[in-house]
Amino acid sequence: MVKLTKGVAVNSFLFVTDLDHTLVGNDNALKDLNDRLQKHRQEYGTKIVYATGRSPVLYRELQIEKNLIEPDALVLSVGTEIYLDGNDTPDSGWSEILSPGWDRELVLSITNNYPELALQPDSEQRPFKVSFFLKEAAAGDMLPQLELELQKSNLNIKLIYSSGIDLDIVPRTSDKGQAMQFLRQKWKFAAEQTVVCGDSGNDIALFAVGNERGIIVGNARPELLQWHNEHPADYRYLAQDFCAGGILEGLKYFGFLE
Ligand code: GLC
Ligand code: MG
Repeated sequence: MVKLTKGVAVNSFLFVTDLDHTLVGNDNALKDLNDRLQKHRQEYGTKIVYATGRSPVLYRELQIEKNLIEPDALVLSVGTEIYLDGNDTPDSGWSEILSPGWDRELVLSITNNYPELALQPDSEQRPFKVSFFLKEAAAGDMLPQLELELQKSNLNIKLIYSSGIDLDIVPRTSDKGQAMQFLRQKWKFAAEQTVVCGDSGNDIALFAVGNERGIIVGNARPELLQWHNEHPADYRYLAQDFCAGGILEGLKYFGFLE
C-alpha cells in the first residue's frame, strides 16, 4: 500500500526480526520501536514477523515477559515452523517443503556417537529440528566431521551453530532466510521493501538469502560480524546502538521510518 503523507510517498514494509539480543535486550528502545511499528502497521499495512530459534513454548515465555506485540507471522525453531495470523498449528505448505529427505531418528542415531553433543531440553526438540549444546572449543574440529558423516547417510540436512553454544540440525531447505522469503513472496513484498534484523549465527541466513535490507545490531556476535566482513553489501547496515536501539537506527537509515 502506498500513501502520501506531507507529500512524501510512504510504503508498507515487511519487518522481520530475530528476538533474543536483537528485538529484545534494550527495554526503552523496544517500547519506542513497538509504538512506531504498530502505528505503521495500522496506517500503511506494514507486516511484523518474529524469526527466532525458540520453540513455541519458549517463545510464549518471552512474549509474556517482554509484552511483545502480536506479529503477523511467527517463524519459530530456526525457520522450521511458520505460524500465520495467530494460528496454533504450523503452516502445512511450509512443512511439506521441509519433509523430503528429513529423517529425525537417523540424525539422532548418528549424533549419538558424539559425546561432545549434549541434547537441549525436550521443548527445543521439534519435528524438523534437533538441537544440542556444543562448547565452542570442541566445535571447530567436530562440526565439519559431523556434517560429512550426516551427508554420507544421504541426509538432506544443514548445521547451524550460534552464539558459541547452540547447534541446530534442520532440513537443508529450511532456515530463517528461506522462511522469510516464503512469507515475502506470499505477501508480495519486494526485497527492497523488506528488512531483516539479527545478531548471531542463525541470523546469517536472513542476510545471506537475497538482497533484502539488513540491520545488524551493534551488539552482534563475532560469528555474524565475521560473515558480514567477508560478504560486504550496501543493502546491509551495521548499527552502532544495541538491540531495538540498533533496529530503530537502521530503519531510519533505510528510510522505512522517519
Ligand atoms: C534458541 C532455541 C535453541 C536454538 C537456539 C539457536 O535458543 O531455544 O533450541 O538452538 O535458539 O538457534
Ligand atoms: Mg539472537
